[in-house]
Amino acid sequence: MKSEKNRELFAILEVSRVLTASFDLEENLTSAMKTLSEELEMQRGCVYLLEPVSGELKIVAAHGLSRDEIRKGKYRIGEGIVGRVMETAEPMLVPDIGDEPKFLNRTGSRPDKEGISFLCHPIELKGEVLGVISVDRIYSSEHGGVDDDIRVLGIVSSLIAQFVGLWRIFREADSEREELRRQLKDRFSVPNLIGESPRFQAVLKMITKVAVTDATVLLLGESGTGKELMARTIHYQSARAEGPFVAVNCAALPENLLEMELFGAEKGAYTGATEKRIGRFERARGGTIFLDEIGELPLSVQAKLLRVLQEKTFERLGSSEPLKADLRILAATNRNLIDEVKRGNFREDLYWRLNVVSIRLPALRERKEDIPHLVNFYLRRFNKKYRKQMVISGDAMQSFMDHSWPGNIRELANTLERLVIMAEGNRITARDFQMDMLSLDTEKPSEAGLTVGEPRALSKEVESMEKERIMNALREHNFIQARAARALGITPRQLGYRLKKYGLKVPS
Ligand SMILES: Nc1ncnc2c1ncn2[C@@H]1O[C@H](COP(=O)(O)OP(=O)(O)OP(=O)(O)O)[C@@H](O)[C@H]1O
Ligand SMILES: [Mg+2]
Repeated sequence: MKSEKNRELFAILEVSRVLTASFDLEENLTSAMKTLSEELEMQRGCVYLLEPVSGELKIVAAHGLSRDEIRKGKYRIGEGIVGRVMETAEPMLVPDIGDEPKFLNRTGSRPDKEGISFLCHPIELKGEVLGVISVDRIYSSEHGGVDDDIRVLGIVSSLIAQFVGLWRIFREADSEREELRRQLKDRFSVPNLIGESPRFQAVLKMITKVAVTDATVLLLGESGTGKELMARTIHYQSARAEGPFVAVNCAALPENLLEMELFGAEKGAYTGATEKRIGRFERARGGTIFLDEIGELPLSVQAKLLRVLQEKTFERLGSSEPLKADLRILAATNRNLIDEVKRGNFREDLYWRLNVVSIRLPALRERKEDIPHLVNFYLRRFNKKYRKQMVISGDAMQSFMDHSWPGNIRELANTLERLVIMAEGNRITARDFQMDMLSLDTEKPSEAGLTVGEPRALSKEVESMEKERIMNALREHNFIQARAARALGITPRQLGYRLKKYGLKVPS
């Protein structure tokens, strides 16, 4: 009897092994049934799973049945022995199927039913019956008893239940991911980019052309002209669309942190580095990295980026093992990089590497004829968002066209959003537009300070606090920027960026 137990144990281990061999449901379950047949003479093993929609039990995997027999193997809950086991969630044994009227032999696989016993066990996960497993067995004196068989089938069916449960979660996550990916692809497609003007159409043509290549692209343009939107569009229209899109704002972090954020760091690379850190370049593997505000990249990081572009490799901080950079690089800036090169702030060799293809996004004032299209696009969007049916009067539309829009599309969109919320009645008039502009002028020292997509009130508050602190620090330190920056706990580079952002002038 000892060797019988060993055989059972071996078979169970083997079943658990084949169930995790792949993520293919049919393949793994078929292997499991084959194992039962080969190791324990449990023949014609079948796994039936409940189809939630039809309410039918269907064979999803079997060993020793023809394709045709598998196709025929369908039962309703309560129907036949398989259906009974599903209903009662209790195992069943039919000692000699020739004598059992409930045995329907639906698959037609047993012309001679004499002498065969039929064992059937529910597949249960956390109280839910997912399906049924069945095997045929011919009992003879050298085999273990029925109880042993039921016990083994019980263990096997609980292994199967675990696997089916995991497989379902995996499949759901997979289809969810697929759906999200499809939505993103849709969202960042050319039809969602608004602009009929020849200038803008020329840009779209370039974007479409360059997207399918793996070329580095430099996106140039004023604030709010759509640099980031174009970068995403390029990614989602490219062969890397299935991979990640990783955006990094090069101006947002101080030099040492930026370097670590981009390239990652080995455990122990700096004091307190207790864990390995994965950088953005590594996270972007197989996809695209978008280096926003590339003009703010410190010189030390510029050298490393150059190496990524030239040799397609990089290293984590504190490591000498080169990692392969399987990614596409897109970059954007609203600075004139050539000027920065002349001033010695930007490496010329890096400039040329980044500038393989550069696309300049026109400012809104250079394509005024697109303004009505943009207004209508955003009016529809905000009407939907706020469940309103606002219309815009002709003279208000004219005001939109006459305005210079220093903050470009972002400013236009923000203005329209406010008007949809604030305007009386259901009509936006030129007066509404003028009032809105007036209310902004008093609190807005510069045009460029409009902040990205945050709730307006809060971001304004943060901005004015930040501006005040910066001005105080500058005054306290006699307008010496390096000292003021130190007092504020930021780098001179970051201070420079903020001064520019808020349009603050420093007396020299
Ligand atoms: N052609 C377009 N059609 C519709 N919406 C657009 C278009 N271009 C840009 N937008 C919208 O305008 C806003 C600003 O775009 P984006 O953030 O890409 O600008 P940006 O050039 O990166 O600005 P910044 O330099 O200030 O970071 C976003 O909400 C974007 O969706
Ligand atoms: Mg941007």
